Amino acid sequence: MRKINFFDTTLRDGEQSPGVNLNFQEKLEIAKQLERLGIDIIEAGFPAASKGDFQSVKEIASIVKDSSVTGLARSVTKDIDIAWEALKNSAEPRLHVFIATSPIHMNYKLQMTPDEVVETAVKMVKYAKERFPIVQWSAEDACRSDLPFLARIVDEVVKAGADVINIPDTVGYTTPKDYGAIFSYLRETVPNIDRVALSAHCHDDLGLAVANSLAAIQHGATQIEGTVNGIGERAGNASLEEIAVALHIRKDFYEAETNMVLSEIKRTSDLVSKLTGMTIAPNKAIVGKNAFAHESGIHQDGVLKEPTTYEIISPELVGVNQNPIVLGKHSGRHAFRNRLVELGFVLPDEQVNSLFAKFKDLADKKKDITDDDLFALVLQKQVNS
Ligand code: KIV
Ligand code: ZN
Repeated sequence: MRKINFFDTTLRDGEQSPGVNLNFQEKLEIAKQLERLGIDIIEAGFPAASKGDFQSVKEIASIVKDSSVTGLARSVTKDIDIAWEALKNSAEPRLHVFIATSPIHMNYKLQMTPDEVVETAVKMVKYAKERFPIVQWSAEDACRSDLPFLARIVDEVVKAGADVINIPDTVGYTTPKDYGAIFSYLRETVPNIDRVALSAHCHDDLGLAVANSLAAIQHGATQIEGTVNGIGERAGNASLEEIAVALHIRKDFYEAETNMVLSEIKRTSDLVSKLTGMTIAPNKAIVGKNAFAHESGIHQDGVLKEPTTYEIISPELVGVNQNPIVLGKHSGRHAFRNRLVELGFVLPDEQVNSLFAKFKDLADKKKDITDDDLFALVLQKQVNS
């Protein structure tokens, strides 16, 4: 089994979500929970971006012991120096330095020639390696880069001492087939690629971030980057909880293992949602309110007989403790009777049948039927009879 490292950037790329601004205490709280979740590497922020980011990266680096802590830097010595000041006391100082490699970014944003970009990348990796034992280098907008150029710059930064090569799909443009092919191409073309870890970093503009990350794993990536609940710039980043659970449930297919403590997923998701103010869609995989809820009578009947009929993930696996049966107009008699018994009403068939008819009338008028509604139905029946 291959080990896949989880790199969480909730506190850096995730905080770049419009409207999100975490304070110092909130960042520490999230970092400690990420450590409990079993995250291998926490990207705690962008130290050169602000005094607040610097302070929180420094504090997180000093208190988090079971995860590595890293910070982002542009390819300028000032950013690397500031990141070193923030990270030098961490258990395993690790830098994440990036430069863009696509023609669009090099021409318009950097206004540098490809040769100048290669020269800068090499210089900055060497500069970073004089301080940091571990240096991750990212090719921003890698998926819109010219592949032979990408291979050339990767080869040069590997020679300069980079330990991890990250291939970001910065604008969420790629597809699983194309993204996987980039990893295969680099592995076939760059001579010493086996000396470094390959990393995937996907954005979700086309809703493909998780699928693309899983494709990267199939093609040799051993590090996956993303955020809790998939928060991040624009449509967000790959949801780490979805990738972790996919690798677990389909271990037969991916043949990979992780350090992730899956039972901490729900707690982490709730904390990030509460502190960022970013609510989770009810139908979001793994952490949405409806992810483990069954409403239709046929499904409820199946799940009550044997949960695996309609559940490929048990809610407990990811720390969800909720009644999976939601009573509504699609519910059947089996689920209805079952809930009555759970509430302490063991009634003869005839009474259950007449209550069930009243329940259906009520469910036609009301979206969710609560336990209080059921109590009211039973008590009304007892008063009337
Ligand atoms: O999406 C991206 O390209 C990034 C880099 C800074 C790694 O977040
Ligand atoms: Zn990103």
